[in-house]
Amino acid sequence: MAGNRKLNSAKTARKDEFYTQLSDIEKELRHYKKHFQGKTVFCNCDDPFESNFFKYFVLNFNRLGLKKLIATCYTGSPIAGKQLSIFDILDGSTEENENKPYKAIVTTVYDKTGDGGVDMFDVAELFKSGENELTELEGDGDFRSPECMSFLDEADIVVTNPPFSLFREYVATLVEHKKSFILIGNQNAIKYKEIFPLLQNNEIWLGYGFQGNVAFFDSPYEDVAVSSQHKEGLIRVSGVMWFTNLDIKKRHEDMILVKRYNADDYVKYDNYDAIDVPKAADIPCDYAGKMGVPITFMTQFNPDQFELIGCSDVADSIPGVQILGQDWIDQYRAQGGTGHYTANMKSLGVSTPRHKIAFSRIIIRNKHPEAPKEG
Ligand SMILES: C[S@@+](CC[C@H](N)C(=O)[O-])C[C@H]1O[C@@H](n2cnc3c(N)ncnc32)[C@H](O)[C@@H]1O
Repeated sequence: MAGNRKLNSAKTARKDEFYTQLSDIEKELRHYKKHFQGKTVFCNCDDPFESNFFKYFVLNFNRLGLKKLIATCYTGSPIAGKQLSIFDILDGSTEENENKPYKAIVTTVYDKTGDGGVDMFDVAELFKSGENELTELEGDGDFRSPECMSFLDEADIVVTNPPFSLFREYVATLVEHKKSFILIGNQNAIKYKEIFPLLQNNEIWLGYGFQGNVAFFDSPYEDVAVSSQHKEGLIRVSGVMWFTNLDIKKRHEDMILVKRYNADDYVKYDNYDAIDVPKAADIPCDYAGKMGVPITFMTQFNPDQFELIGCSDVADSIPGVQILGQDWIDQYRAQGGTGHYTANMKSLGVSTPRHKIAFSRIIIRNKHPEAPKEG
């Protein structure tokens, strides 16, 4: 990957530079192969010669039966134009246009070099010969710029790891333009007021994901992971997921529920008629009422198995939730609680074994609960 990754302070503040490993892309995308036949794929946050998304699609172009692959990158990206290959390919490249963003448009991939297989050398040769196109963008490569938006209109499926800081707007743009997509995002996006309704309406869902929702990216930022979790040259980021609106097998598979309900193990909220289930694996198979589960439950959500009622972090998304009330706050304080809670808050509170707020809960209901055990 690129050597020079110096960032200006604005870029550092936005923290958008996380480059996805090819192996992670391969692991996720093998579940979507059937969707790509005859399609135009657009990677719109991807330096054609640095992004592993571009690499994945160009090297699997024929296997997936793609019609066209388009990749565009952003001026702001510290890796835009840093890779030598681009300067090898584009005549007249100078220091001046080094940071200019490019577009790559691929419609044919074959063994141009005649060495017996297709690799990135063939891709480079196909650009040089003009059979595919690699040219500077007119604008800055912002995914919202007119030229990138016209590529978006042409595309069937958008696949990338977009800037985390623009995730809301990014997804809204794709949904508005009725595009299929497979994207990497942070798990906190689940509780964004712009994203949760899309999950609730079955317009988007989560993909297969990273082990333990932890991803390792190539990045210019410092890795703060403890040494046992550190991977040389990579940065560890927790809470990373794939978001998609393409159908995958996993989302039709029921979660296996092994626990049974009993009133001692499952506490009810004080201000809402639902039980709190702090670990999704503990969802009781025989509870017919409402349950509050952590947001990571969404990685196992099957809309045929569960109804998605609301999210405690999305204002007014849970019908019927009451304010905590002054009594609750007084008892919480009497127990030494120091959180900035007020009587008017509608966070979900429990009082057993002590008063506390159950944070970031998704409220669900099992559509087909098992019959409770007799006695
Ligand atoms: C999380 S990184 C991922 C890069 C690449 N897609 C990958 O997975 O390796 C997001 C990239 O989007 C770029 N970016 C930031 N703002 C953008 C914008 N408005 N339009 C397009 N790309 C943008 C960043 O510079 C960064 O390189």
